[in-house]
Amino acid sequence: MTKRALITGINGQDGQYLTELLTAKGYAVHGIIPCRAPGIGEAGDRLYYADLAEGSNLLTILQKSEPDEVYNLAAQSHVRLSFELPIYTAEVTGVGTLRVLEAIRDYQRLTGREVRFYQASSSEMFGKVKTTPQNEDTQFHPRSPYACAKVFGFWQTVNYRESYGMHASNGILFNHESPRRGESFVTRKITLAVGRIKVGLQEKLKLGNVDARRDWGFAGDYVEAMWQMLQQPEPDDYVVATGQTHSVRDFLNAAFGHVGLKWEDHVETDSNLLRPAEVDLLCGDATKARKKLGWSPKVRFEELVGMMVEHDLELAEREKRKRG
Ligand code: NAP
Ligand code: GDD
Repeated sequence: MTKRALITGINGQDGQYLTELLTAKGYAVHGIIPCRAPGIGEAGDRLYYADLAEGSNLLTILQKSEPDEVYNLAAQSHVRLSFELPIYTAEVTGVGTLRVLEAIRDYQRLTGREVRFYQASSSEMFGKVKTTPQNEDTQFHPRSPYACAKVFGFWQTVNYRESYGMHASNGILFNHESPRRGESFVTRKITLAVGRIKVGLQEKLKLGNVDARRDWGFAGDYVEAMWQMLQQPEPDDYVVATGQTHSVRDFLNAAFGHVGLKWEDHVETDSNLLRPAEVDLLCGDATKARKKLGWSPKVRFEELVGMMVEHDLELAEREKRKRG
């Protein structure tokens, strides 16, 4: 029988890659999108409007989509923005997860069907890290309203597993990027600027803290791990990471270097882009995912940077041609 999946945040970076993966596996994929423009009509085939900030129609959506698996990817996912919108972020990213879990519990009670649940947890939860590399046993020390909301969602997921026997798993994913990455995250902001600077559409790029270190992988690899978690006989929590850490400075070197430019000639620091509290160093240990899921990352750092720069260079060339 065709398996059915429901993805919240289906139009985000990961939602797009996961949809492609599940569709290729023969799933019927349904998705939830936020209602940004009320009154625009039908969301489309297998797409439903819902806002995790209130979630009143989640049970109805479950009844319509009848999923075997739910992937909760929707979130206010911007860390810096979460300092400006802490309560909204807590509502969507934190309590929103609880709303999805509660709706699934109601749905299971009403129908007697099993629904497997994936929660998009984050390496941001490690924050001011206690040990390096970070694994499933590393204590959390969240450093932003976003990270606090993700810690709430993480523990609610564990609680629904332990209290109600739900097949609910957390993927603690470290940063993962792609040409589909949102434009305000640092990697994409850099590669978009590299493309535009290279073709002469832009001269300067403003950034915040270029010393921060992240464990950057490719989003296409990471959605495989999400799916694999829900295929296990038992639910569990897994770190998903490359095990390699690079600074924003390293990313700048690789991205500008890819097109023969020096980042020092173009980058300016802007104190408005600094965060009230920073996560200085993330580096994940994905041994458990390797051993239990058989997962490993395929795309390496240099390849990832090259893929993003090439994509954004083409966008810039198109923009230049359009301008004439
Ligand atoms: P993303 O591109 O920001 O996607 C998030 C999606 O959630 C967007 O489609 C967004 O819609 C939707 N959304 C936002 N507010 C909503 C609301 N109130 N109700 C319903 N939907 C809402 O993020 P991503 O990079 O794909 O990441 C997917 C998930 O993994 C997120 O939960 C993120 O926090 C988490 N995560 C990401 C990473 C990473 O490095 N990418 C690492 C660890 C964890 P709009 O675009 O219309 O706002
Ligand atoms: N966004 C951004 N913009 N970040 C900058 C900038 C800038 O202009 N300049 C420096 N940075 C630094 C940030 O201070 C941070 O240390 C690092 O670049 C990465 O920032 P982001 O790309 O915004 O990602 P993030 O690590 O804060 O959060 C992302 O990864 C998390 C997983 O660890 C998001 O996708 C989160 O949703 C995700 O959970």
